[in-house]
Amino acid sequence: MGQEARPEPATYLGRRIAQTMHFTGAEWLTRHEREREEAGEVMRDELKLKSGVNVCDLGCGNGYHTIPIAKAVGPEGKVFGVDIQPEMLDLLKVRALAAEANNIVYVPGSQTETKLPDASCDLILMVDVYHELAHPEPMLQSMKKALKPGGQIVLVEFRAEDLSVPIKPEHKMSKEQIIKEMTANGYTLTRSFDKLPWQHMMWFAAGQAGAPSIDKAPSSKP
Ligand SMILES: C[S@@+](CC[C@H](N)C(=O)[O-])C[C@H]1O[C@@H](n2cnc3c(N)ncnc32)[C@H](O)[C@@H]1O
Repeated sequence: MGQEARPEPATYLGRRIAQTMHFTGAEWLTRHEREREEAGEVMRDELKLKSGVNVCDLGCGNGYHTIPIAKAVGPEGKVFGVDIQPEMLDLLKVRALAAEANNIVYVPGSQTETKLPDASCDLILMVDVYHELAHPEPMLQSMKKALKPGGQIVLVEFRAEDLSVPIKPEHKMSKEQIIKEMTANGYTLTRSFDKLPWQHMMWFAAGQAGAPSIDKAPSSKP
């Protein structure tokens, strides 16, 4: 009585979409315990990045992974750091300057478009991001355009199946739900790595099964 009805939280294919993490909480992304909880170095090793590869860190935040990836791909490669919060990109710029990471391209994205150049990425990485995309469908279509032929998307998401992972339910995803959503958008699971402490790590190619995987540097750059 006299109270306005609250809008229902958005859902996608039966999953409640999480709120975007605000830039004022960015310090949490570089917390000391993070390496123990997420084994970021192991995760990045699994990407098997070669010098000269172009990677997009989509939803890069303040660059916890962007900067080491920029080092891994070397001066011949680059990392597109995409985020919808310009403040996150500003925080990343400060950290990248201090780390002398000069091969990062800063891309202010939108809720529906990556704003990446067409066919520019060998790999699009989303760490703790996919579950908070407000509009998964147009974003996944936009990613398809940004991938080079044979390029892949890698999702890293907290495991919903594992009750011991101390993360709020809407910030976790099950493998089944990830596959359901990616398949509905025309992607095929090509690989999973199941040894991270708290997260799923899953590779997807656009299109049918059997798409070539990227594990070597491209012969030409866009
Ligand atoms: C939980 S943080 C993770 C940051 C970073 N990936 C990491 O692992 O440290 C999620 C980030 O995704 C960004 N984000 C959410 N929706 C996005 C979208 N549609 N496009 C680009 N970035 C997005 C948020 O602004 C936020 O910086």
